[in-house]
Amino acid sequence: MSYPGFTIWFAGLPCSGKSTISLILAETIRKERGNVEIMDGDVVRTNLSKGLGFSREDRETNLNRIAFVCNLLTRNGVPVIAAAISPFENCREWARDLIGDNYIEVYARCPLEKCIERDVKGMYKKALAGEIKGFTGIDDPFDEPKDAEVICDTDQETPEESAAKIVEYLRGRGYLPAAKGSNGKGSADGVHERIEKD
Ligand code: ADX
Repeated sequence: MSYPGFTIWFAGLPCSGKSTISLILAETIRKERGNVEIMDGDVVRTNLSKGLGFSREDRETNLNRIAFVCNLLTRNGVPVIAAAISPFENCREWARDLIGDNYIEVYARCPLEKCIERDVKGMYKKALAGEIKGFTGIDDPFDEPKDAEVICDTDQETPEESAAKIVEYLRGRGYLPAAKGSNGKGSADGVHERIEKD
């Protein structure tokens, strides 16, 4: 049986968990589909979008480039995960229009205070001190996604649980095989694995 390509398009504040969930999700997809590509904002900005900054225009260019590549891969049957902040509604709509039915938006939802607490790279601290200007969530906008197919509440779920939620959605939509012994609704892999290990 062959499965269609798709793009998981994340949106979420810095430190909301997008990259962490992507890596866990990619493992399951690779196991079941054989291939998967991750377009991570931080990585893309060191090559495809090298030289771009964080003005609205540059972010839009960055996101449009990511969407362009996602579409190329998706239409050739490849599963893709785009993990950028993706703060603007208009860019998400553009990606959705371009990729069509195989576009799946995932909102990595996390309260700003929690993201600030995580501050993995110390950038919130700098932004709050005024050392970085135009930092998303501090002095640059983040349009809350309104049409996301999946919402991961990353302050309440483990990254494994969030990834499992997305896997379940993918199974339900026929992008991954239905879980064995399921009623066709799929199952949350990571959760099962963890329970079995306990
Ligand atoms: S996006 O807005 O264009 O979608 P993207 O995900 O590619 O952003 O890049 C975000 C990453 O760039 C963050 O994880 C952070 O490490 C870094 N960064 C540097 N400056 C900023 C800024 N002003 N706002 C947000 N992220 C920034």
